[in-house]
Amino acid sequence: MNEALERLETLGREAALGGGEARLQAQHERGKLSARERLDLLLDEESFVELDRFVTHRSTEFGLGSRKILGDGVITGYGTIDGRLVYAFSQDFTVFGGSLSEAHAEKIVKVQEMALRNGAPLIGLNDSGGARIQEGVVSLGGYADIFLRNTLASGVIPQISVILGPCAGGAVYSPAITDLVYMVRRTSFMFVTGPGVVKTVTQEDIDMEGLGGADVHAETSGVAHFAHDSEAESLAAVRALFRYIPQNNAERPPAGPDADPHDRRSEKLLELFPDNPNRPYDMIDVIREVADEGGFYEVHAGFARNLVTGFAHLGGHAVGVVANQPAVLAGVLDIDASDKGARFVRFCDAFNIPLVVFEDVPGFLPGVGQEHGGIIRHGAKLLYAFSEATVPKVTVITRKAYGGAYDVMNSKHIRGDINLAWPTAEIAVMGPKGAVEVLFRREIAASEDPEAETEARMAEYREKFAHPYVAAARGYVDDVIDPRDTRPRLINALDMLVDKRDSNPPKKHGNIPL
Ligand code: HXC
Repeated sequence: MNEALERLETLGREAALGGGEARLQAQHERGKLSARERLDLLLDEESFVELDRFVTHRSTEFGLGSRKILGDGVITGYGTIDGRLVYAFSQDFTVFGGSLSEAHAEKIVKVQEMALRNGAPLIGLNDSGGARIQEGVVSLGGYADIFLRNTLASGVIPQISVILGPCAGGAVYSPAITDLVYMVRRTSFMFVTGPGVVKTVTQEDIDMEGLGGADVHAETSGVAHFAHDSEAESLAAVRALFRYIPQNNAERPPAGPDADPHDRRSEKLLELFPDNPNRPYDMIDVIREVADEGGFYEVHAGFARNLVTGFAHLGGHAVGVVANQPAVLAGVLDIDASDKGARFVRFCDAFNIPLVVFEDVPGFLPGVGQEHGGIIRHGAKLLYAFSEATVPKVTVITRKAYGGAYDVMNSKHIRGDINLAWPTAEIAVMGPKGAVEVLFRREIAASEDPEAETEARMAEYREKFAHPYVAAARGYVDDVIDPRDTRPRLINALDMLVDKRDSNPPKKHGNIPL
């Protein structure tokens, strides 16, 4: 027995070592943590249970036969975050550059399948040189095995990717299928083809950070939802996410601390809101003022900033907030905002997270670039996502709700459950100026004082349409409320909707315009 125990201990030590001290040091020198240190930060203390630490690759090509490292470049297993079960894999760059072999892929597939079977989130910590070159197509097959499981698990368990090193080539498509992608500035990169290939093919000169760094993906491409300055911050942010998301699609999201009074009125909302309807204000201030204890976990903060998405608690209910942002591009909906909103709405709907919409939208963004870029197709995603969502859906129109955007932003017509308007709401086909220019073009041209004529017509239009009472008279908004009551009214609506049941016609799946 003693001999057997000794052997186990020796092998255990070997497995824990990964690629060895020198490589570990090199990893640290680059400002990166080891695969194990990352798991320690991600999971509750002492909670991680490792699986498959004795797995090795089976390749014999290019001298690999004599170079086997226990674990084969990925640490897999399960643990807890705030006491809740999660599965995780953490790629170890010190072992063959974290590259993915057949065995490495099998280990990931095993935790993917366990996570799906046991209804718990899966978190992937990515730091890899991609397909293990020596294994050729077997490695490519391993990736496809992972992609398939990512797809099958989509909408069943939350899947989270944290990019902590290179993630290149086809390897990017596993994170891309997962729900939320976190990146770290300066040490993580995602691209389908690296700077070298780009230079050869398009003659463009660009470095790794510029091509596929955290800020590029969090602000320009939208591939990443979060960019942080350090791995520790990034992993802490993943832990914080668990305050809002459930274990799986059959569970409700966790309740918040619920210490903020439900009947708290807010005078500050009146101060935040400008008197001039064309003056911007920051919708995030409104959200924070209304949410429990001012908490707001913003998602995709740097991308399409004209639409705000994120999680909050309201009266203890975890909610997904979607809000137009008047402080950026007047809160207009464009291609990127539509994509961002649609994906977030579908995440919330898949995981039983009620939606709360703050609406102040002048319409869709006009322009050749937007039309040619497919604003019709992209805008339709947001409309489709809100329409198909069956979770509780509540809307507050603070100011503008113009044109098609009125319909899209969770209107009553697409199954908004409770739709409220502030008395400052303007609900109409278009804004006063645009409307009179269409309707009274001739009269204005013929007038001795076109400017005064325009003003008079606009005043008339405002009187008729630029308020919430036409919509309220039809029941298109359920009530016009004092803005100070926004929090109590939203909490009341969420309480009322807590057992909501709604469904869509049976189908294999819809065909969201992609
Ligand atoms: C096998 C690999 C490897 C790989 C790195 N290594 N990538 N081994 N297969 N894909 C090994 C190196 O040989 C080296 O081993 C060790 O890992 C560390 O790599 P370095 O190159 O020294 O590190 P660094 O300078 O930091 O560069 C990291 C890197 C670079 C940028 C990731 O290694 C690189 O470009 N690797 C290849 C990336 C790539 O093209 N992968 C295929 C992408 S296509 P030693 O023993 O010398 O320390 C793909 C297809 C997926 O993945 C398909 C899915 C459909």
